[in-house]
Amino acid sequence: MPSTAAAFLFRWGMRLLLGLLLLLALVGAGRLLQVSWQSHYDGPREPYLQMVSSEGITLRWQSGQREIGVVRYGTDPARLEQVAREDSARIGHEIRLSGLLPATRYYYAVGSDTAVYRGGSDYWFHTAPAPGSAAAARLWIQGDPGWWHEGSRAVRDGMLQWVGNNPRSGRAPLDLWLTTGDNAYNSGKAHEFQSALFEPYADLLRNIPYLPVYGNHDARRWTFSRVFSFPAAAEAGGVASGSPRYFSFDYADVHVVVLDSESSALGERSMMLRWLRRDLAANRQPWTIALFHHPPYSRGSHDSDRWRDSWGRMVDMRAHFLPVLEAGGVDVVLSGHSHMYERSVLLTCHYGHSTTLQPDMVLDGGRGTPYRKPAGRVSHGGTVYAVVGSTANLDHGPLDHPAHAVSLRELGALLIDVEGERLDARFINAHGEVSDHFSIVKSATTAAVERRCD
Ligand SMILES: [Fe+2]
Repeated sequence: MPSTAAAFLFRWGMRLLLGLLLLLALVGAGRLLQVSWQSHYDGPREPYLQMVSSEGITLRWQSGQREIGVVRYGTDPARLEQVAREDSARIGHEIRLSGLLPATRYYYAVGSDTAVYRGGSDYWFHTAPAPGSAAAARLWIQGDPGWWHEGSRAVRDGMLQWVGNNPRSGRAPLDLWLTTGDNAYNSGKAHEFQSALFEPYADLLRNIPYLPVYGNHDARRWTFSRVFSFPAAAEAGGVASGSPRYFSFDYADVHVVVLDSESSALGERSMMLRWLRRDLAANRQPWTIALFHHPPYSRGSHDSDRWRDSWGRMVDMRAHFLPVLEAGGVDVVLSGHSHMYERSVLLTCHYGHSTTLQPDMVLDGGRGTPYRKPAGRVSHGGTVYAVVGSTANLDHGPLDHPAHAVSLRELGALLIDVEGERLDARFINAHGEVSDHFSIVKSATTAAVERRCD
């Protein structure tokens, strides 16, 4: 009798367990279907530019129907005689042009063999200058820009007003457009990218190569991975990372490193850190700028001192990646995530809690900006860290991190000009005003100081 009861209980226990497993599998499959569906958009999408180099660029667009995509291009808008064509019909088009001339304006039209979807004299791009050349470079960096509203519109217009008042002869108003992550709130859905980026910024996207950093809100759906092209194979210089989440490239004499502080392992033996060491060891450019989402120093809407804030990613980036970036001579590090603007002094060797900041970690000698550095890449020669997270959001926080010289609760974005031995970074607010301006000047007459961070 007892054995019969035990068998009965066992049988029903197993049925219950199987039922629970089946339910979990159904819920999981349903969730995957939902994520996939919300990451998908088949409607029209204006052309946008990716992965610019001195001899190539990638064009992407959607006309709203399945067809073989065609790009016609040339240096004369009236004669687009060069043609690049896909080999099969699709809805989302992606065509890489190669064999282009450096630092040259090209005009283009996208569409199919039978129709032009978009084209005309307003559709153009500039290829990058030859790698290593001291041509001027102008970068616009939005921070957490994933909402489109009056405020973010004013930030864009403020930047356009400033560059309109400070034009560069024969050049595009901007060379590169980057972000510090969280590009489409609230969950990186396809329709959120449409409403926060592709539709409101269409007139800028058609001319300026765009490169977003991966933020925690982008990670909630798969849209980010589907709609952007990243130079994982060193298409524009740097060492191939093999990852679309982290990579590097060169623009003129600026080396840009993009890291993934959201989804990649951040340990001392992580793949990303090993790649970063190789990349910086191979870098020959005099200027290096690094970007990732989670800020190493922030007392804004996130607190970089708190281990539990953002799963410790701010602490890990500071402890494991900053020593390698600084040893590689990085000049500027840009992050977002905290929805305000914070900007440090010229700093090195500060890898702990904010209370561990020591006077000898501050390298500006109390002079402030312009910060002076030796020419070229100098290990631990000093880095300026900026939290650029208020292009579309303003949150509250104490804004009292001792590493920061400037902390602002103000909508805006950062504009960086690099030319020769000088870098100028301006935080331009929603009124088109420069709320912060720092400079780094490199000179052979500035003595290099050998420094270790023991
Ligand atoms: Fe974030």
